[in-house]
Amino acid sequence: ALAERGPAHPAELPNGLEVLVTTMGLEATRTLLNDNRLSKDATGLRAAMQHQLADKGRPTDLSRIIGPSMLNTDPPHHRKLRALVSQAFTPRRVEALRPVVERTAADMVAAMPGEADLIERLAFPLPLAVICDLLGVPPEDRGQLNRWTADMMTERPELVVPASDAMFGYLAGLIEYKRERPDDALLSALLQASADGERLSPEELLTTAILLVVAGHETTTGLIGNSITALLALPGAWEALTTPEAVAAAVEEAARWDPPVRVTPHYRVAADIDLPGAVLPEGAIIMIGLGTAGRDPGVHGPTAARFDPHRVATGGNAALGHAAFGHGLHYCLGHHLARIEARAALTALRERFPNARLAGDAAEFTRDDKVVPNTFSSVPVIL
Ligand code: HEM
Repeated sequence: ALAERGPAHPAELPNGLEVLVTTMGLEATRTLLNDNRLSKDATGLRAAMQHQLADKGRPTDLSRIIGPSMLNTDPPHHRKLRALVSQAFTPRRVEALRPVVERTAADMVAAMPGEADLIERLAFPLPLAVICDLLGVPPEDRGQLNRWTADMMTERPELVVPASDAMFGYLAGLIEYKRERPDDALLSALLQASADGERLSPEELLTTAILLVVAGHETTTGLIGNSITALLALPGAWEALTTPEAVAAAVEEAARWDPPVRVTPHYRVAADIDLPGAVLPEGAIIMIGLGTAGRDPGVHGPTAARFDPHRVATGGNAALGHAAFGHGLHYCLGHHLARIEARAALTALRERFPNARLAGDAAEFTRDDKVVPNTFSSVPVIL
């Protein structure tokens, strides 16, 4: 049995699934993320979940949600997928995107009216434009991708199912197109990638493309929206954002204090895991909390629960003091790109609108009612 306020607590997800959510400090969270008794294997996860849902009289097809991408694969296969994708999604490729990201952010900011919704005008469209640049999605197709991803992110089945069907179909077609006409973007590089004589199968390629769109979009929307909102809500913080170092430190602190990914997606417990005060039983589905890991007073002292964009400058270690990008095998493959995007968004907005302010109280802004992503639904700003 779980202790009343122990390291994990039961929760029921909107689809009826019962999971355990951990709420532990930084070290314990990292140790758990490294534990090889946790499994991500898509087949096992789907079976465990579908079994549970069928028992509740809610049979559900999860094949679209949990596909065989690297995020839902265990070693040794995970290593093959991650190595092949890393071969194409290189630091050099990400670095080469930086000027494009900065220009896109500046253009979006320049087009903002005097009163605007930060999410609609910047935090949502910027990461989507960047993913399109990364994958090589032609400009004329981006509008429909924008609509599908917006629908997919509502988590309303009547919108999500047709939009994800359309997205699957579109990306499958795009991969075929790139096979015929390779360019220098990521999808073509993924088609070429090979290691030890192995290549990505057509199914792996498709699930990878979908993973990149899904993992790279709403998460980054959260980082951009959460960091700008936290800065505008803290007196003096926006004004103090005058150097690239200050911007980088503020983004890191926002990731720690208000992580865009609240809890990791599902892991399945393959064998009992003893935690101080609780056992994670074999067969349970767990989601690992990242918020408590970042606000660990053992790491950040008595001010752990406070947003302090100068934490790094004053000797605190925000950069190493959170697990917002996960840890271990599945550590975020896109963290470098996400940081480039968030820094570019903050810089562009700060440069053009040094007097920007929130139109209202940040504590009252609504957040999307979702399990994994932690994003504001809208953030009204006066520029
Ligand atoms: C994995 C967070 C942006 C691609 C993860 C995980 C976290 C995370 C917590 C681990 C999930 C787990 O353990 O179950 C974030 C945050 C982002 C962000 C907070 C933005 C602020 C991106 C971007 C991309 C990306 C921009 C790519 C374009 C991935 C991939 C994985 C991953 C491919 C799976 C890695 C694996 O399974 O080996 N991310 N992510 N992420 N992320 Fe990100």
